[in-house]
Amino acid sequence: MELLLANDLVKRFGQTNAVKGINFHIEEGRCVSLLGPNGAGKTTTLKLLSGLLEPTSGSIDFKGEKAKDLREYIGYLPQYPAFFHWMSGKEFLVFAGQLAKLGRKQAEKRSEELLERVGLTDAKKRKIGGYSGGMKQRLGLAQALIHRPKLLILDEPVSALDPLGRREVLDMMREIKEDTTILFSTHVLHDAEEISDDILIMHAGEIAISGSLESVMDAYRQPILQIEFESQAADWLESIASYSFVSEVNSQGNKASIVLNDMENGKQTILKEIVDRKLPIRTFEISQTTLEDLFMKVVKA
Ligand SMILES: Nc1ncnc2c1ncn2[C@@H]1O[C@H](COP(=O)(O)OP(=O)(O)O)[C@@H](O)[C@H]1O
Ligand SMILES: [Mg+2]
Repeated sequence: MELLLANDLVKRFGQTNAVKGINFHIEEGRCVSLLGPNGAGKTTTLKLLSGLLEPTSGSIDFKGEKAKDLREYIGYLPQYPAFFHWMSGKEFLVFAGQLAKLGRKQAEKRSEELLERVGLTDAKKRKIGGYSGGMKQRLGLAQALIHRPKLLILDEPVSALDPLGRREVLDMMREIKEDTTILFSTHVLHDAEEISDDILIMHAGEIAISGSLESVMDAYRQPILQIEFESQAADWLESIASYSFVSEVNSQGNKASIVLNDMENGKQTILKEIVDRKLPIRTFEISQTTLEDLFMKVVKA
């Protein structure tokens, strides 16, 4: 079922066109990554969805209806969360619960549940100022979940963390996605690949590619030959670029990657040329383009 639908969302800041009329939808129960380089418009998009920014034009539907105030349904963890360092983890959650209009008793109860869930029960009385990066981010997740939102929006939840903290938070997100729809942004491809069901690739204020991780991979995957030569083979590489089965030739030093449209034909012809011309090669590998190749292509476009 469709949970959220963005219709032609536009956001301008003066002369800056941060979001240029984007359309996408989020299915209930999915974990969706919004992937893109810095400045792509991810934070702006997430703020529009969570009601922190008004769109210049366009609209958002939530469960098929035009949404006015989404805050009740959405939990949001900002890219740079601000904590009160003098509060304990527990105090902070109770405070957040009361801001979300829970009664004192309810806020207490929900805080205890969430501290347990994010693994901070033992640290609940300690001041937030002494928490590690990963602990702070887990507390941030608990805060965003306090009112049982239908959609959890996380802006670069792991980007500022060290590898250990990153692991902690990704594992936590994996658990949360079992019962809550998640939309999270990242500029790190690996994070998107690791836990998302669907991806939205954003570049310069537009959604360049969207779909399930699998379908995007299937649709854009191309065979590729990776060849390492013993010396430069620039002339030959230039000559093969005109073959119809060659889609792209990239080379760096003695290494080349040749993206093909037609694997069988391409492989045979290229192997034959290498033999006929006695080109000295060190390695010859047949593989497929990865999501990273696709991402780099979108970002450089
Ligand atoms: N409050 C603002 N005022 C002016 N420009 C902004 C503001 N917020 C974001 N921008 C600009 O909008 C573009 C997209 O920014 P942002 O949404 O933060 O991208 P991302 O999160 O993908 O790095 C950038 O060019 C940024 O400088
Ligand atoms: Mg951002």
